[in-house]
Amino acid sequence: MSRRRPLIAGNWKMHQTAASAAVLVAQIRAAIAPESYADVDVVLCPPYTALSAVAQALTGSELSLGAQDVSAHEWGAYTAQISAPMLLEFGTRYAIVGHSECRGYARLGDDEINAKVRACLQHGLTPIVAVGETHAEHAAGQTIERVTSQIRAAFAGIESAAVEGCVAAYEPIWAIGSGTSDTPEEAAAVIAAMRAAVPGLARARCLYGGSMKPENAAALLAQPEIDGGLIGGASLSAQSFAQIVEHARKAVAAS
Ligand code: PGA
Repeated sequence: MSRRRPLIAGNWKMHQTAASAAVLVAQIRAAIAPESYADVDVVLCPPYTALSAVAQALTGSELSLGAQDVSAHEWGAYTAQISAPMLLEFGTRYAIVGHSECRGYARLGDDEINAKVRACLQHGLTPIVAVGETHAEHAAGQTIERVTSQIRAAFAGIESAAVEGCVAAYEPIWAIGSGTSDTPEEAAAVIAAMRAAVPGLARARCLYGGSMKPENAAALLAQPEIDGGLIGGASLSAQSFAQIVEHARKAVAAS
């Protein structure tokens, strides 16, 4: 089977003002070799306040815009939330759903994550559904159990044909921002278990996230189960981000 088309998404988290985001986009556009887009989808997920500036700075490029979260609701009395129709206004095509930092700080639970995935699908946004286990769960050998439970809940009741068009990301919490990623073999095994747990996910793109950087991206992306990366820290440097995109392009060429 030929490889699924890789996707490299930059999760900028709470970094960049609108002004600095426009500068970073210009640097990223200059750093990524234009031929990469023939083989790799590249997505930037800035903070909400920079969506407009980034959308403008992306004009005429093949980069796509993503958001870091989305409300499960369309409109209404939901102070501080941002809905799918609001994101679509800027040309946003993807939304990260269930990032561990939202599950943690914002106490986001499985049912609401499922509702957010449904809101994305209803409005034509592609969810990037993030799952991952804590350090304690990892140490206790509960990784597969934890991750498959999260991914089943996120896609509960959603038809497999719709799941196929979604994106999932395995992000071990203990690897995020730590500088040390999971091993390529272990990450691939967890992703294989995620695919087996949800009908349709075998055909969907599944990313790895958690300290992916130029130094380890080639080995991670060489795993056929790993269709790309959700990149935090390394996405804030145009050079690092572009190098990861280049590793994804080479992984396609090698397959
Ligand atoms: P990191 O973050 O690449 O800085 O580890 C990844 C993420 O949280 O999505």
